[in-house]
Amino acid sequence: MNSKLGHGLDLNKTQDQIYKEKFVSSLRAYVLNDLANDMRQDFEKNIASDNDFSNGFEVHKAMQGREIFSRYSSIRCAAQEMVWGSVIDEVNNNIEYLREQVETYSKQAEGSLKLDPDFEIPKYYTSLDIHLMPGNYEGRVQGANSLAGSVYDNGFNVFAFGAMGEQFNDIGMSMANCVRLKFPDLKPETIVDVGCTIGHNTLPWKQTFPSAEIYGLDLAASCLQYAHARAEAMNIKAHFRQASAQALPFDDESVDVVFSSMFLHEMPVKEIRKFMNEAHRVLKKGGVMIHMELPPNDSLTPYDAFYLDWDSYYNNEPFYKTFRDLGYRDLCSKAGFPEDAFFESVMPRYTYVSNDIFASAISADASFDENTGRLSDGIQWYGFGSQKK
Ligand SMILES: C[S@@+](CC[C@H](N)C(=O)[O-])C[C@H]1O[C@@H](n2cnc3c(N)ncnc32)[C@H](O)[C@@H]1O
Repeated sequence: MNSKLGHGLDLNKTQDQIYKEKFVSSLRAYVLNDLANDMRQDFEKNIASDNDFSNGFEVHKAMQGREIFSRYSSIRCAAQEMVWGSVIDEVNNNIEYLREQVETYSKQAEGSLKLDPDFEIPKYYTSLDIHLMPGNYEGRVQGANSLAGSVYDNGFNVFAFGAMGEQFNDIGMSMANCVRLKFPDLKPETIVDVGCTIGHNTLPWKQTFPSAEIYGLDLAASCLQYAHARAEAMNIKAHFRQASAQALPFDDESVDVVFSSMFLHEMPVKEIRKFMNEAHRVLKKGGVMIHMELPPNDSLTPYDAFYLDWDSYYNNEPFYKTFRDLGYRDLCSKAGFPEDAFFESVMPRYTYVSNDIFASAISADASFDENTGRLSDGIQWYGFGSQKK
């Protein structure tokens, strides 16, 4: 875990608070590395040798009887609740200071923020606290004006246990550089990150394509407010808009790149399809859509599919498995993208390796193993998308 967020909205934490966060972060690393490896070994030694499995569902059923699975699941659920629990009081105790900082940075703005007080938030979104985050991205239980964005920023720092880069920007850096390398002729002028939360993976697009205008879109006003101030605090120009993925606020054929990260799986399939249609509508010809996600179940071994489906059953992410059971190529082509323009890549973390190592992974065919998409040491990101013709 990084002990500082590294921007002007960081809180001045006591040593006790830092240790508390570090403890939870190490607990997560322990579950996702050590316990996860023990669980895999248990499967290989005691279950796989006597049984054939054709999908993750069957492995899940077999693992439900194993003690190691109960341990892994209960400790992982507890650690997930502790992630948010370890930071909410700290944010609430500093709320006045944070508001002042947000106001100060927002005034110095190079970029912009547009919120819509009449915005209608969809039911699928308000009906649950996604990944056990109290009050969801809007901070409902903390009061309308509280800074859910700060809870997310501080909580994500604990959650990521240092595996997602400085200011957790590695996914954005990796996907932006994947597009740069795969589409060398593309000179993007307008790039949109949909479901941007606090903009941590939005800003790398400005760093990769400095002359482009960058937009971060989300439903959650309190996260967007924070995202805007955070970008200004980091001196990176970006525009944040309260808008829905299902009604992108752009004209037809006006955008060069539509990007999302860890976003599709948080919506029902019907909403994913509407978003894909919108992405196709707003892209210029030759424009690129790219989504960072967990890999589809049909690319994985039954055990890896089971492992990555865990969140759908135990982490309040009900749409995860349904999404990952879809064929991603088919998803893109149903939205109007040509079948043969589909691409997918498995890549190392851009900010952890050299440009050459990264570029060779991007030029190779995607190959999947237990590190693909799995948050642990040595993770490989997965991205897929298409080009509008
Ligand atoms: C898991 S977060 C994505 C985090 C971020 N993109 C990243 O890279 O870590 C999902 C985000 O999508 C937003 N969201 C959910 N449904 C949406 C919709 N229909 N339109 C726009 N944003 C949405 C949520 O408010 C939340 O901020």
